[in-house]
Amino acid sequence: MERTRYRMGWSATGGALLWLLLVVSGCVSGGSPQEGERIYAKHCGSCHGEAGLGDGPTARLAGLKPANLPVAVREKSRAEIVGTISKGRKAMPAFGRILTDAERDAVYQYLRTLAEERAAVSPGLGPT
Ligand code: HEC
Repeated sequence: MERTRYRMGWSATGGALLWLLLVVSGCVSGGSPQEGERIYAKHCGSCHGEAGLGDGPTARLAGLKPANLPVAVREKSRAEIVGTISKGRKAMPAFGRILTDAERDAVYQYLRTLAEERAAVSPGLGPT
């Protein structure tokens, strides 16, 4: 009897811990590059292009010159980049009310992965 109660108590604690872990990891994944990739494809790729080089179809059609994001992310601070995403620039809409803080952060994380991939493909490539 004593043993059974002990086991039940343990599994309740384990369950609570597991639940906590899921909640915490859920919050963390809100800012993940994977989430950022999804947001980027939906809101940014049409102008900035799939790899962030500024050659998306909408930009070409409208004659816009969006920034080269892998270069921008390497040159500028997180605060500057996230600030531009929030406020917009020239033809770029402000995303401050369209995306949440976590979503803008996720997009930033994704842009960083683009910058790293590009650096790996062409090391030493300077700003264009
Ligand atoms: C309608 C086309 C368009 C869309 C959509 C768009 N952008 Fe832009 N973006 C631009 C243009 C144009 C600029 C300004 C380039 C310049 O300064 O000459 C720009 C600039 C930027 C900059 C500034 C880079 C720097 O050098 O400081 C960042 C960062 C950026 N965009 C990220 C994003 C992200 C992230 C999204 C999606 C959430 C997005 N953009 C959606 C057109 C767009």
